[in-house]
Amino acid sequence: MSPAELLDLANGRTAAARGIPYTLSTMATTSIERMARAVQGPLWFQLYVLKDFEFNRQLVRRAEETGYSTLVVTVDLQAGGKREKDLRNGISIPLRPSPHHFWEGLAHPGWSLRLLRGGLPQFENIGGYLGDTSAGLTIAARVGANLHAGFDWDDFRRIRDWWKGRLLVKGVLHAGDAACLVAAGADGIWVSNHGGRQLDGAISSVDALPAVRHALGSEVPILIDSGIRTGMDVIKAGASGASAAAIGRAALFRRRGRRGRRGEGPRYHLGRDGDWPQALRAAQF
Ligand SMILES: Cc1cc2nc3c(=O)[nH]c(=O)nc-3n(C[C@H](O)[C@H](O)[C@H](O)COP(=O)(O)O)c2cc1C
Repeated sequence: MSPAELLDLANGRTAAARGIPYTLSTMATTSIERMARAVQGPLWFQLYVLKDFEFNRQLVRRAEETGYSTLVVTVDLQAGGKREKDLRNGISIPLRPSPHHFWEGLAHPGWSLRLLRGGLPQFENIGGYLGDTSAGLTIAARVGANLHAGFDWDDFRRIRDWWKGRLLVKGVLHAGDAACLVAAGADGIWVSNHGGRQLDGAISSVDALPAVRHALGSEVPILIDSGIRTGMDVIKAGASGASAAAIGRAALFRRRGRRGRRGEGPRYHLGRDGDWPQALRAAQF
């Protein structure tokens, strides 16, 4: 199993042990089915809408059949952004090995050994997409070229019809969009700018949040992510109108090398930060 897949599973188990829902991506390095077998806890499935609606349908059906409780439809990556950091760091799809990667490998021998032992990550949910069975990163390139840039309201309603459970839309920053999505059947809105990874000129999600809350009223669940790093950030999100906060990279940053290798997963410290009591007092919770 690749180190990336071990990490995916460890994150899922760690979240489940704390009763936190784990969202498995279309592009995850573990499959919908394997994650469902490994985790006894709430699981959500995140869908990237591809041009091939029969394939989208299959992904949604697999999540339904394996007991995922919530479908998260991401709408802020229908076309790839120009990720300048990735360009600078030589992260391309497919990966083109360079002297930089070689030196990084030498500087991190433990990581390199695990990679050699476990192999490159595979994007398990989309293996065979469009008949492509080549290496994972090449498949990812293929999927990237097949994101449905023309995704529209009829497409959204189609997906809404497929999924009978709770459906959230992720990647919303505009209050008007949020209101239209709820009117079209979304059960909740996930305010996000994709961790700032997608569009360099996007508004921050915490700045977008109050207007979205105002447009939706107090009952509709609103999640927020992008930049949540501490308990204080969670409090600020709550005070700005979020029902819950989600983390992406914090789960990876907190991972301890040795513990992670034994599959114990990352440690979540968000609830233990020293800044919580002070922030709670300040916010008068
Ligand atoms: C390595 C990486 C991969 C990601 N892959 C996906 C993905 O497949 N689907 C998705 O909806 N968001 C994806 N995201 C965005 C996260 O879901 C989330 O919106 C973002 O990481 C939140 O910001 P934070 O990392 O500052 O917490 C990814 C983020 C990172 C860092």
